[in-house]
Amino acid sequence: MRRAAAIRPETLACDGTDQLSDIPVLRVEDLVTRFGPPGKGLIAVDHVSFSVRRGETLGLVGESGSGKSATAMSLLRLVGRPGHIEGGRVVLNGVDILPLSQDDIRKRRGTEYGMVFQNPMTALNPVFSIGWQMGEALKAHGRSHGREKIIENALRDVGMPDPHRQARSFPHQMSGGMRQRVVIAMGLINEPQLLIADEPTTALDVTIQAQVLELMKNLTRDKGAALLLITHNMGVIARMCDRVAVMYAGEIVEEAPVDEIFENARHPYTRGLLRSVPDGARPREKMPTLPGEPPDMSQPQTGCRFRPRCAFADERCATHPDLLEIGNGHKSRCWPAQAGEAFDTAGNRSETANAV
Ligand SMILES: Nc1ncnc2c1ncn2[C@@H]1O[C@H](COP(=O)(O)OP(=O)(O)OP(=O)(O)O)[C@@H](O)[C@H]1O
Ligand SMILES: [Mg+2]
Repeated sequence: MRRAAAIRPETLACDGTDQLSDIPVLRVEDLVTRFGPPGKGLIAVDHVSFSVRRGETLGLVGESGSGKSATAMSLLRLVGRPGHIEGGRVVLNGVDILPLSQDDIRKRRGTEYGMVFQNPMTALNPVFSIGWQMGEALKAHGRSHGREKIIENALRDVGMPDPHRQARSFPHQMSGGMRQRVVIAMGLINEPQLLIADEPTTALDVTIQAQVLELMKNLTRDKGAALLLITHNMGVIARMCDRVAVMYAGEIVEEAPVDEIFENARHPYTRGLLRSVPDGARPREKMPTLPGEPPDMSQPQTGCRFRPRCAFADERCATHPDLLEIGNGHKSRCWPAQAGEAFDTAGNRSETANAV
């Protein structure tokens, strides 16, 4: 299979509890998701591989349309028609969930993974109280004993000032920030080992954003859960993530520890994204736009997909690069980066090998 050999996913550690944090909660291998008929249509997720460990936050970042949500929905087995998962493995706690029945998947939602989406109103039912909805989430996993207390504790955990009262409230009686806190409380109530959050704070104002993000980070860390955080916002990445995977045109083009991404990005696309982020702590609402357009993913692709927009492209880039380890847990899908050539911010490539 094309590019299948490029990344060897981490193998499960299985020799004792001291290595628990090295065990990937989630391991994605060569995931392919398409919208349209098999083999045709638009390829939204193209042989994507990554893993997330216990207690770790992995950020998934990229321009609009790069395939971040399609990846998340594939992991959750929630891709709707005309979308379908065409191949790969999604190994959650050691079990590939792609061949499982929807019934089996439903049982795993909540306890093995929870989810938080951009718009809290899609996750909350307007006609039932918050407490009732949280109770249903508990009931779905056979947790009926002490439900009221569990719900109030969960609401307290997300900073609700009066959990007893808020459990009796309806979604429309709350502000957007409070509703998103409720969604996070619901996402975490069955103590999932993995939380998938797709733009969880984009709809909130900047101060509330920061609080909600901090909360999500602390709650997942405290519970030893893994967090997959999808965002447009490099400021959010900087504040929240341990590692970052950068998506472009359905592929991961760079993956590295967060400091490496900010200090030593080794893909021209990532560099472009970072260059467009203003200095200062205040994060931007939207992903900065780079000159040019991403490719039309309903057409077959050849060579590096970023090539038409890349100041560093040369003849090598007519061949599709694999995502390869270039050192320090850093992977890049770029020929010049893999050859150890340095990039400068003006868009020139230095001939000095390893002068990074
Ligand atoms: N239901 C659908 N039918 C057809 N194409 C779709 C559908 N959903 C997504 N796509 C396409 O799949 C590609 C990836 O979309 P996706 O929503 O994953 O992007 P994204 O990275 O989440 O973008 P954004 O940052 O805007 O949320 C895009 O080209 C998009 O147009
Ligand atoms: Mg999206």
